[in-house]
Amino acid sequence: MIVFKNIKTANGSIIDLTIDSQEEKIIEARGLLALPAVIDPHVHFRTPGMEYKEDWRTGAQAAIRGGCTMVFDMPNTLPPTFTVELLAEKKALINRQLKEINIPLRYELFFGADKNHLEQIPKAKDKVIGIKVFMGCSTGNLVMDDDESLDAVFSLAAQHNMLVAVHAEDEHLLCERKAAYQGSLDYAVHSQWRNVEVAVRAVEKAINLSEKYGTRLYILHVSSAEEVALVKSAKQKGLPVFAETTPHHLFFDTSAYESLHGRAVVNPPLRDAKHREVLFAAIRDHWIDTIGSDHAPHTIEEKAKAYGQCPSGMPGIEFVLPLLLNAYHEGHLQLDEIVSLTSARARKIFNLSSYQDWVIVDLHKLATVNDTRSKCAWTPYQGRTLRGWPVYTVLGDECYSL
Ligand code: DOR
Ligand code: ZN
Repeated sequence: MIVFKNIKTANGSIIDLTIDSQEEKIIEARGLLALPAVIDPHVHFRTPGMEYKEDWRTGAQAAIRGGCTMVFDMPNTLPPTFTVELLAEKKALINRQLKEINIPLRYELFFGADKNHLEQIPKAKDKVIGIKVFMGCSTGNLVMDDDESLDAVFSLAAQHNMLVAVHAEDEHLLCERKAAYQGSLDYAVHSQWRNVEVAVRAVEKAINLSEKYGTRLYILHVSSAEEVALVKSAKQKGLPVFAETTPHHLFFDTSAYESLHGRAVVNPPLRDAKHREVLFAAIRDHWIDTIGSDHAPHTIEEKAKAYGQCPSGMPGIEFVLPLLLNAYHEGHLQLDEIVSLTSARARKIFNLSSYQDWVIVDLHKLATVNDTRSKCAWTPYQGRTLRGWPVYTVLGDECYSL
């Protein structure tokens, strides 16, 4: 049994927190804070097919370091996860990797929507956390750009009570706008090409489909004030619409291209600074439900390529909680809002079975980001000094000292 003596909880009470464990240990935890462990509903751990960027050995270690014990992994792998056979193969690979490092990380998988494999969706019903639809192209080939297939996915999902998670960028608008920016060597044009209108058009379409069929809709990586307004009006209408934002849309803006260059390229792209304030306000007002790291590692060599060849995405799972705790110190968020964003809302939206994992936090620890456990070996937060860090992650009966 492990006991954290005199630890504070998010509501301010002081308790002795007992963990059922093989280990016998009493930890004097006065001054530390126990929060529910982070649930990261959006990661790309790259198994199978792109394991030179990340795999579940390194991904799980990065998760644990970030106070996270449950991840939902995306289907844009090689091959993509769009049949139940591929899903079973992927799970076997993941389980093997987690066993090797002896970290029983909790995970769920998203199923990839593909117009040539629609009949697979009902078969996957009880095996996945939801269906992922790429409405616009991104890493991988999983794009669903025709209205007929989109309609079919939302209809099937509603029939089978499955949740649809959308990467909401409109493929037609992206294609139309591409010519104007093609050939540019300035990474910052990425935010102009994939502008707010591109996201808005797709979010509108997805919300309309959710309304048409009653489909539970989870809008991934909401990045702009305009998307927040659409989510707000959908929620006010009583639609089953939920919204996620990301650490990079909260803690970076388009000024980051100057220092990060290709490492700042991500889909949907970084926005102008004014959107960040709206995202924080939307968290406080509960229009945004969750934060997903959208942990999307690529190697440093890939990210150094010229604009056009440089893949989109950045790692982030380790620093979601420290960034949010630092934002708490800066007055942007309350602790209960952080708990809601990092675990409580996800638990409800995705109907997660009950388990009790913890992250033990030193709210006053000041440290500078200077390394990562991700296989990609870089982080966009390098050099940031943050106040508030996880010091233990408790996963079931395992307690990891960080
Ligand atoms: O920037 C992104 N990277 N956006 C995505 O939608 C996919 C992700 C990746 O898998 O690299
Ligand atoms: Zn993603």
